[in-house]
Amino acid sequence: MELDELNYHFGIDGVVEFAPGPGGLAQASVTAPGGTATVLLHGAHVTGYWPAGHEPVLWMSRRSWFEPGKPVRGGVPVCFPWFSSTGPAADSPHHGFARLREWEVESTGLDGDLAEITLVLLADDDTRRYWLGQFELRLRVTVSETLSVSLEAENTGGEAFTITEALHSYLAVSDIRGVRITGLAGAEYVDTVGETTRRRQGDEPIRFAGETDRAYVNTESACVLDDPGMGRRITVAQSGSASTVVWNPWSAKAARMSDYGDDEWPGMVCIETANIYDNAVTLAPGEAHTMEARIGVE
Ligand code: BG6
Repeated sequence: MELDELNYHFGIDGVVEFAPGPGGLAQASVTAPGGTATVLLHGAHVTGYWPAGHEPVLWMSRRSWFEPGKPVRGGVPVCFPWFSSTGPAADSPHHGFARLREWEVESTGLDGDLAEITLVLLADDDTRRYWLGQFELRLRVTVSETLSVSLEAENTGGEAFTITEALHSYLAVSDIRGVRITGLAGAEYVDTVGETTRRRQGDEPIRFAGETDRAYVNTESACVLDDPGMGRRITVAQSGSASTVVWNPWSAKAARMSDYGDDEWPGMVCIETANIYDNAVTLAPGEAHTMEARIGVE
């Protein structure tokens, strides 16, 4: 749909507006009294969230691609139907195909102080080239003084399938070396820096002194990102999600990524709401599963 058709069918004065976003990609601005979020139809990708009276919560790389078929570096990428390089074939795209595809707008709305947009991606010949699952995937973004991003996957085919998934939120921080994350004490994690190992988090908060790439499993606790440099705390609460990924590439990996500035790594950390490894989700025909991330600032 063209932008004027999107505005005609789904625009709501002062609440939802469609306009060209970065790279000219179609983008919705969703505004509630408590804040504003922007969402690309490409990847159903939340590119920004500004709670009223606060600094931007989400981080976006100045080197990101904004092109059809390429992932966006920052915001909230949707990883589906697999996480990382666990796709069915050697050339399966990293983190699945959902973030590479153009989604359709299904509905928009304003309910009290909540402004909302729902986007949908259906299985088609393109997705079946990569993966045979017959699915409907919905991403609902609800904006208020918190940001809710909810991903519903439904098996609309006749065969069961197993998915791994993540809402890969990039959070803006003053300096990664000064922040700490609580909420994962005692949780087991897969550490993928260097040789992959299983470890267990102690009682201490997570602090950062080098490349960090951890998939915490069997944990549903909310995480709190304490950033004294910015004088704020970001909370990432989740439901329908039993895994949490914590990632910062640090300098050497940053330098190897062509869509990430060499000097950008101190300014972000990912806390990803996920179901991966032990927490992969199997959906029988007709079954649906919803995973939600709620991001708020104090
Ligand atoms: C994280 C992974 O979720 O995503 C990292 O744990 C990965 O290993 C990162 O490097 C970014 O992935 P991509 O495909 O967006 O470069």
